[in-house]
Amino acid sequence: MLAMAAETGERALRSKTSVHEAVRVRPLLREEIGPLARAIDEQSEPQILNRWREQEMGYRELMVADLDGALVGTVSLSETERPPNALHLFALEVGPAWRNKGVGAAIVEYVVDEARRRGRARVYLEVRIDNRARRLYHRLGFRRVGPAFANAYWLFHADGSRERIEEPSYRMVRRVTSDSSR
Ligand SMILES: CC(C)(COP(=O)(O)OP(=O)(O)OC[C@H]1O[C@@H](n2cnc3c(N)ncnc32)[C@H](O)[C@@H]1OP(=O)(O)O)[C@@H](O)C(=O)NCCC(=O)NCCS
Repeated sequence: MLAMAAETGERALRSKTSVHEAVRVRPLLREEIGPLARAIDEQSEPQILNRWREQEMGYRELMVADLDGALVGTVSLSETERPPNALHLFALEVGPAWRNKGVGAAIVEYVVDEARRRGRARVYLEVRIDNRARRLYHRLGFRRVGPAFANAYWLFHADGSRERIEEPSYRMVRRVTSDSSR
């Protein structure tokens, strides 16, 4: 089942002129929690389940990147006012088998387009200072603001335990409007 989806995903990538066109970002369905966990990382189902619960509490919108039926990545969004009128992009992950094909860039571009559709003035994210994703974000117009800080979050393990992680991170921002609020 997963292999079949992966095959159609590969075909979609080959047949479209751009990955951006082939990748569809949409809300995750409840029954896709397990399949997404397996596509991203075998161990992370409690992590995805926790994201689902946080969505139910209104703390995030949990999105999936779908490539002709293959679940290839995920991202979470939340509208925030600090910084003002912003869309927060976080928990971006692309399945190991799908990396380096432009899927991550397509997801980030989707979020920027979504911010524009919602009339949000900027998209921001946090990234570990040694994460190669910084280059990707920079290429897509994000710029670092402020000094490094300790970004803290809970990591949920497959055995149900959780671990507090603190990572030295930068905040990066991309403005998305062309009016005087820039
Ligand atoms: C970071 C992450 C989301 C990037 O996803 P991705 O799908 O690999 O991203 P892209 O393919 O768009 O771009 C990644 C690289 O592939 C290159 N690339 C893009 N399209 C490509 C293609 N068709 N063929 C080969 N390489 C390509 C890009 O140039 C980029 O290189 P660079 O950033 O090292 O200079 C992914 O590596 C990941 O899930 N990492 C683990 C979780 C993580 O760190 N998330 C970010 C938290 S802030």
